[in-house]
Amino acid sequence: MTDQIVINSDRFVPYLSAEQIKNRVKELAAQINKDYQGKAPIFIGILNGSFIFFADLIREITLDCEVDFLKLSSYGDAKITSGQVKLLKDLNCQVTGRDIIVVEDVIDSGLSIEFMKKIISKENPASVRVVTLLLKKSVAKVNFPIDYVGFEIPPEFVIGYGLDYAQKVRNLRSIYRLAPPDGTTPGKKDKA
Ligand code: IMP
Ligand code: MG
Repeated sequence: MTDQIVINSDRFVPYLSAEQIKNRVKELAAQINKDYQGKAPIFIGILNGSFIFFADLIREITLDCEVDFLKLSSYGDAKITSGQVKLLKDLNCQVTGRDIIVVEDVIDSGLSIEFMKKIISKENPASVRVVTLLLKKSVAKVNFPIDYVGFEIPPEFVIGYGLDYAQKVRNLRSIYRLAPPDGTTPGKKDKA
């Protein structure tokens, strides 16, 4: 894991290693495999951010399952939410009567996941659950449970493993967090 990554003049420091992520993804998949035994869910990934998490998670799933994707946009190229969620790509699958598992990279304000849930629920699925790799619990304002959470993290901007900064650095194997501007390196936080 590289010591630090500098983008424009923002400095990012290591937060979750590829190994930590891999282990947690396996645990999440094991729980889903157990909870959905005998069922055939559709996993719906939210593009772009969830694509790497989605690919790793789905390969640990042993259920009879299908995949589809929705594409939302809320951040543009900024580090904070614009407060507006737009649907850029709709579903191609039949959701009615099916068990749906929505796959997110990170839940921040909660706007995107709420918007998603509304779109999917309109089609009368048998059930809808949400799995997110990261949850910024202190800022997320959602009025429904987030069923599967990889790591609860502080409300800081993170990059890598699918998560971008102005569309870049999604290809990093591990997750980095924005370092405070005074040059100090924050301590590692325990996983949730
Ligand atoms: P929310 O609508 O505020 O919950 O934001 C959700 C979406 O914003 C996520 O699916 C990400 O694509 C993006 N996002 C939120 N926080 C971060 C972050 O720390 N780094 C990169 N993208 C983020
Ligand atoms: Mg996303």
